[in-house]
Amino acid sequence: MSKLPKQKSWAEPYKIKMVEPIKMTTRPYREKAAKEAGYNTFLLKSEDVYIDLLTDSGTNAMSDYQWAGMMLGDEAYAGSKNFYYLWDNVKKYYGMPYFVPTHQGRAAEHMISKILVKPDSIIPGNMYFTTTREHIELAGGKFVDVIIDEAHDPQNTHPFKGNINVNKLEALIKKEGAKNFSYVFMAGPVNMAGGQPFSLKNLKEVSSLLKKYGIPLWLDATRATENAYFIKIREKGYEKKSIEQILVEICSYFDGLWVSAKKDLMVNIGGILATRNKKVYEEARNMVVVYEGLHTYGGLAGRDMEAMARGLEEMVHFDNIKARIGQVEYCGKQLEKYNIPIVYPFGGHAIFVDAKKFLPHLSQDLFPAQTLASEIYIDSGVRGMERGVVSAGRDHATGKHRYPKLELVRLTFPRRVYTQAHIDVTVESIAQVYDDRKKIKGLKMVYEPKHLRFFQARFKKL
Ligand code: F0G
Repeated sequence: MSKLPKQKSWAEPYKIKMVEPIKMTTRPYREKAAKEAGYNTFLLKSEDVYIDLLTDSGTNAMSDYQWAGMMLGDEAYAGSKNFYYLWDNVKKYYGMPYFVPTHQGRAAEHMISKILVKPDSIIPGNMYFTTTREHIELAGGKFVDVIIDEAHDPQNTHPFKGNINVNKLEALIKKEGAKNFSYVFMAGPVNMAGGQPFSLKNLKEVSSLLKKYGIPLWLDATRATENAYFIKIREKGYEKKSIEQILVEICSYFDGLWVSAKKDLMVNIGGILATRNKKVYEEARNMVVVYEGLHTYGGLAGRDMEAMARGLEEMVHFDNIKARIGQVEYCGKQLEKYNIPIVYPFGGHAIFVDAKKFLPHLSQDLFPAQTLASEIYIDSGVRGMERGVVSAGRDHATGKHRYPKLELVRLTFPRRVYTQAHIDVTVESIAQVYDDRKKIKGLKMVYEPKHLRFFQARFKKL
């Protein structure tokens, strides 16, 4: 008599109700498409992409519960009931009393920077994010990276590479003087470090240090439920707590937060600015009228706010996040089988391929990650994104490229969109490009926009 094995595999806690066909193309077709797009995956037409791992931002599949909510949009100009429902859920899941909706994350970053950044002040954070730093700098502030050194090493397996180096932060405060700091921010998991979380232990240390100096602490809560998941499975004492409890505990240490709802909340558009500081709230509520729309819709339709409110309820389900991060892990483990150099530990939202190691014959001036992303697209129609020297941009003072230690291609997983078979195809394509890597030459930048150049820069093959 054979004994049935105990269930070891897991599967997604949902099934597919609607499908969207995707186009399969030939290599010559993709070579032409890549050339026309200036070898920038942001400039490809989405219909020419087979498996789209460009981003997890706004590319998620909403649930039937969210779609049903879309029919309940109260599209009144002022005081929509969807806004009040969303506000209730912002209080419940982020624990913040005050809230302003925005059309997406960077709109909230824009307003927070305008409100909080004093001219020439310092804003330290756990690594930069492209739009976050841009808004800080546009508001006249200076970003300083105070993440732990381990975060800059793709091979280091520290479980909380998103942590802040508290000694570095305190030394900076002592050197510059507390009054020259507008605020400190933490993002979790840290996107540019490879989707790496911070620990609650570290957060508590940062929070008490800043209390001592009277400096506010703000959170980029864009993927905070993923950070909560990592705390639950990696940090002692949190094993039995729910994602919801951990999320509220995280937020309790912050003066306020911003969210790109296009990630955790599993919607296609939306943003949140929430705070416990009434003065900041009042300024934001007034400012939103200038930039976004009335404070009860902030650039969104009533139906969008309903989908966000329902997304907040779904995002804290443990099985949902486990399946999401499980898919990312699955991709990482398959790539390991082909010895593809990747960032460790596997991130929350993406696997990051180490382009410096993948293409060691290319210097950073030849844009290895940009090159690799375009080669993967040409091979199979799989679209990833550059996170290296192009994303890092130029130093505003010197005008020179910033050369980040991490030169990565990000394979980002939209929530509830692709199957394991899509991942297998992706991995096989990257393995194929790896086999042919010696033939790959770099790129030359032929067009460079002033702001956030990675979105629109164009390149030519060498
Ligand atoms: N903060 C983080 C950590 C982000 O990842 C993003 C967007 C934003 C803020 C800005 O939010 O796009 O809604 O305006 N990240 C996307 C990405 C674009 O692909 O990583 P947004």
